[in-house]
Amino acid sequence: MGFPKQVRLVDVAPRDGLQNEPDAIATDTKLELIDRLANAGLRHIEAASFVSPKWVPQMADHREVMTRLQRRPGVTYSALTPNLKGLENALECGVEEVAVFGAASEAFSQKNINCSINESLQRFAPVLERARQANVPVRGYVSCVLGCPYEGEIEPDQVARVARALFDMGCFEVSLGDTIGTGTPLTAKHMLEAVTRDIPMDKLAAHFHDTYGQAIANLYAVLEEGISVIDSAVAGLGGCPYAKGAAGNVASEDVVYLLNGLGTEHGIDLDTLAATGDWITRTIGRPNRSKVGVSITRS
Ligand code: HMG
Ligand code: MG
Repeated sequence: MGFPKQVRLVDVAPRDGLQNEPDAIATDTKLELIDRLANAGLRHIEAASFVSPKWVPQMADHREVMTRLQRRPGVTYSALTPNLKGLENALECGVEEVAVFGAASEAFSQKNINCSINESLQRFAPVLERARQANVPVRGYVSCVLGCPYEGEIEPDQVARVARALFDMGCFEVSLGDTIGTGTPLTAKHMLEAVTRDIPMDKLAAHFHDTYGQAIANLYAVLEEGISVIDSAVAGLGGCPYAKGAAGNVASEDVVYLLNGLGTEHGIDLDTLAATGDWITRTIGRPNRSKVGVSITRS
């Protein structure tokens, strides 16, 4: 298929990047991060997560984040909604896009959302129905597409089955999550090959964590196959609370640098993005995991 001319980046730092932080982060800091990302040219920002505060305390201020954020025209601010309760709360806050999240691994599904894969799909059906009534598009995530912290290897056909179920249910896009960042370019290509038997390439996104330092190589591999939506987090922030040891998402700065080298359009200003990564890591006292970001701002 070949490299796409244009790529849409979804910066998930305010959600995936911060959800695992043990110390409270001020809502104002989250709001400033979201606005700085929009200022850098991001047109799609995952801003909050309407999950149980008992499960993920860091996301407990989801209502405040979603209602107080300065909406810029042309920018989509999305939120995770694991069930109807989460969706209703998100709708009350004026959310314009939501995401449900399932997994290709039974054990991860149980640990992350407290139900089996099939139960999760049954739970998502009314969420999609209600969102459709409210005219709110729903994205679907599949976790553990290249490996599971509890089950190890995951079959590409199993990823394809769950992705297909989400797509058939009405998800406008399915984001394929290498939750623990153990994938390599060939496993990523094989997984994508299985998924694209059922779902068109332009309805898929790559969501790769960088635990083993393979995320940029994996992205290059799936870009070559035609993937044109990439999830990333500024400064490579983050990790999943239910995938112990997993590192953050691939850094947005590193992805933008890669895309610049490929001559791919993305609409993001790298210097402003790098300054955002520098600011947020200093503010929350975390290392900046973007090599590009560090080279630009601290050299
Ligand atoms: P449960 O305990 O089975 O739910 O959790 P329940 O329906 O039995 O309810 C239990 C309690 O939670 C009740 O409160 C509910 O009201 C409350 P209580 O009566 O005990 O006071 N509750 C809620 N509160 C607020 N918002 C809600 C909500 N739902 C129930 N939406 C549940 C099931 C799904 C809620 C729970 O397991 C949960 O919140 N899990 C979220 C875990 C999570 O956020 N993980 C990280 C995000 S996924 C990820 O990072 C991967 C991704 O990045 C892709 C990748 O990298 O692979 C997306
Ligand atoms: Mg993730």
